Order: sequence, then C-alpha cells, then structure tokens
Amino acid sequence: MNMEQLEAPVPDGAPHGVWSINTERLPSGELCVAGVPVGQIAQEFPTPRFVLDANDARSRARAWKEAMDQAFADLAGAHVYYAGKAFLSKAFARWMYEEGLHIDTASEGELVTALAGGVPGSACGLHGNNKSRAEIERALREGVAHIVVDSLAELEFVNVVAQENNAVAPIYLRLTTGVHAGGHEFIATAHEDQKFGLSVTTGVARQAMARAHELENVQLIGLHSHIGSQISATEGFAQAAQVIFEERVWAHEQGIAINEIDLGGGYGIRYTAADDIAPSPREFARILAQVVREHVEKTGLPAPLVSIEPGRSIVAPAMFTLYTVGTVKDVAIDSGVRTYVSVDGGMSDNIRPALYEADYTAALAARNSQAPTQRCRVVGKHCESGDIVVRNVALPSDIHAGDLLAVPATGAYGRAMASNYNMLPRPGVVAVEDGVLTELIRSESIDDLLALDQDQQ
Ligand code: LLP
Repeated sequence: MNMEQLEAPVPDGAPHGVWSINTERLPSGELCVAGVPVGQIAQEFPTPRFVLDANDARSRARAWKEAMDQAFADLAGAHVYYAGKAFLSKAFARWMYEEGLHIDTASEGELVTALAGGVPGSACGLHGNNKSRAEIERALREGVAHIVVDSLAELEFVNVVAQENNAVAPIYLRLTTGVHAGGHEFIATAHEDQKFGLSVTTGVARQAMARAHELENVQLIGLHSHIGSQISATEGFAQAAQVIFEERVWAHEQGIAINEIDLGGGYGIRYTAADDIAPSPREFARILAQVVREHVEKTGLPAPLVSIEPGRSIVAPAMFTLYTVGTVKDVAIDSGVRTYVSVDGGMSDNIRPALYEADYTAALAARNSQAPTQRCRVVGKHCESGDIVVRNVALPSDIHAGDLLAVPATGAYGRAMASNYNMLPRPGVVAVEDGVLTELIRSESIDDLLALDQDQQ
C-alpha cells in the first residue's frame, strides 16, 4: 500500500486524497474509518460492503454550501442541490438537507426516497428526459421547487398534466449549450448529438421559452445546463453559463423574466493518484460567481438565483468498497505475468470500469505486508471477462484468499448503478461516524431476489 494514498486534507479544506478524510492506517496495517477498524466492520457487516465515512460526505456537502453562499453573497444567493443519482438513501438525503443542501432527483423513486428521509418537497427538484405522468403528478403534489423540462414534447405534457391537476408547474428548461466537456462520451451531455436538452444552436431553446411563456399551467422560472460529469476544469462551466446568460437576455427582451439559473453538476474527483486534482468548491464557486457578476454588470438585469447539482464530488470520495479476496491466479501475458486477484463482488457493485473504462486503485485493508509488490488486476466473480474492478494495481505478492481488499472512491454511481447480474445480491451500505456503525442500506439476500420471482410451483 502506498502510504501517500492516505494523504491529509489540503489546507483550504478541499480534501484531495483518494481515501476519505477519516480513513487512516493503524500500525498493524489495518485501515480504520472514523475510529472503526475494517476487520470489525467486516465481522459485523460481511463483505462485499460499501463503507461510508459519514462525516467526510457531510463536510464535502458543507464545503460546497459554504463556497456557494460566500461567492454569491453579493448577488442573489445560491442553492446547492445534491444529485441523488450518485447515491441515495433516506438518511443520506436527510444529512444533505441538514447541511443546507437541496436534493436533485431524477425519478419518482429518488424523489420518494428524499421525502421519506424527511426532505420537504419544496427542497427537491425533478429531472429526467422522459418523465411519466405519475412522476409529474407526484412532483406537483409534493410541491417541488422545480421540474426541469427536457424537450418541447415534455413541455406540452407537463402543461397538460398540471392543468388536469389544477396546478401550475414551476419549470426550468434544460438547454443544450454545445459545450463539450467531461470524461467519457457516455457522461458528456451538452454536445448536440445526445438525448438531453433543448438546443441553443438550432433555436429550439428559444422556441421552448416562448412556448412556455404562452402556456397557462407552467411557470417558466429558470434555465438549466449540465455539461457532463467528472470534469476537472472550470472553463466548460463558465462557457456554458455564458451561453445560458445570452438566452436569458433574449428572454428578457421578449418580456420573459427568468430569475433562476442552474449550472448542473459534474465536478471531478480523484479516483487514483494519477488523476488531476480538481479545483476546490471555493474555486468553482468563485469562477461561476464571476461569470454571473459580469453578466449582471453588462446587462443590468437582476442577479439570478444560481443553483448547482454536485453528486460525485460529495459522495464518491466518502465511500470505499470492502471486498474479501478469493482466488489468486498468475496469468502469463506478453510482458511477463499478471496476477488476477478475484474478489467477492465485481461489475454488479461497480459497473464503471466496464462502462467507462474507469480507473480505480485498491489496497490490502487489514494487515501489513513486507512482501514485494506485483502487478495485479482485481476482478470480480461474474461470468464476463470484462468484469474488472481495478485494471492495474501494485499489491503485495503474498496477497491471498481471505485478505480484505478496499477500493476507494466508490461512493458515486457504485451502489446506485448496482445490478443483480448472475443473481448476486447487491451489497449494503454501512456508515461510520465517531466510532459508530449505522446500516444505511442492508445487503440483499438471495431470498430477496427470489421474492420477486412469481413462480408458484
Ligand atoms: N445534474 C444532472 C442534470 C446530471 O445529469 C448529473 C449527472 C448531475 C447533476 C450530477 O453529476 P456529478 O456531479 O455526479 O458528476 N454514471 C456516470 C455519471 C453519469 C452522470 C449523470 N448525470 C458515472 O458513473 O460516471
């Protein structure tokens, strides 16, 4: 294990290590989270398991909130919506709300989870490019802050559903700004040839604003942009904001007042020591506020309320996955030998390596080893050769069945995108804070899976 992976928070409060801030290595070599050694965690909550450093997630949420509040204090203020798609449970939604965040939901299931956690509807937003009637009705009934409308067809649909429910839907329009940013093609969202949003380039965005203004049962309150995910540069956000502001100016010229702007999520994190260190929340907030200030000074329009929707940057670094090592196998490859280390989970609890070629690192979690390291690939137990957890990592050559292995930075889009492939039960999530373990989501059992099977014989 490379000790520098457990690096301390940087001075401005933006921890940039790949491990959560309360993870340390004991002299015995055992990893310890918020005072609880991983061996104890695995005994009480068998692997595979997501382990959440609750205080880490809360402090990252607070860092975003404070950064935005501070940067926008002289403007019209800011809201931070935690993007629940990254990871959501009732308690987690409540913790985010307690830290002053709102919750961005992308389905009825996410919305209901946040509500069940005690978050008021008025602190939730609803996203999605293909919302059902049930989702729109639920959002209206719960009084969500806004519904983000994704297409002209959906604009008409939301209006009809609102009318039938004697309601006026507060809406944002999601605009496609043409700014291409983000890691993998599948997670970049603001270029033209993809499914999200109303194109600024082709004029559909303006058509939608004009139409929304005409409709009786929607109230256009904001414009939204989300340019992609895992972005570690500020330029794309600033460019997208500028495009959104040009659209806002046009709207005002037509007598359509738009006083809320949502710049989406997508702020990058470090998965391995090789990744760039993303700008801190403070730096992102400063850049965004600067663009807003310039727009306000140039146009004389009132400062808009500005929202952002970070998901990954709050929860990814706060969790690691704890696995138990099973089979270890040396395989001859062109340049020598690669050791395949199989663990008791895999692509069903982390699809990101298979889906986006995402890189992770891993560490022996419960003991020291003096053995020299060797080139390893950590793989899962699925019937699929692409079932890779960590493509390339140096691990001690005495790694063996029964060892605990931890893979950091799995908090975002890990449990949230988990599946039951090969009829594997999905792992649960246990939170650790001040030496106390709290189960947020229990692990599924095979009985849970069989309970869905309707065969009566
Ligand atoms: N807002 C909107 C409208 C989004 O579509 C997303 C992510 C977010 C906020 C949050 O983005 P974040 O801050 O977490 O990057 N499953 C992929 C990422 C897809 C993200 C989809 N939308 C992954 O595992 O990398």
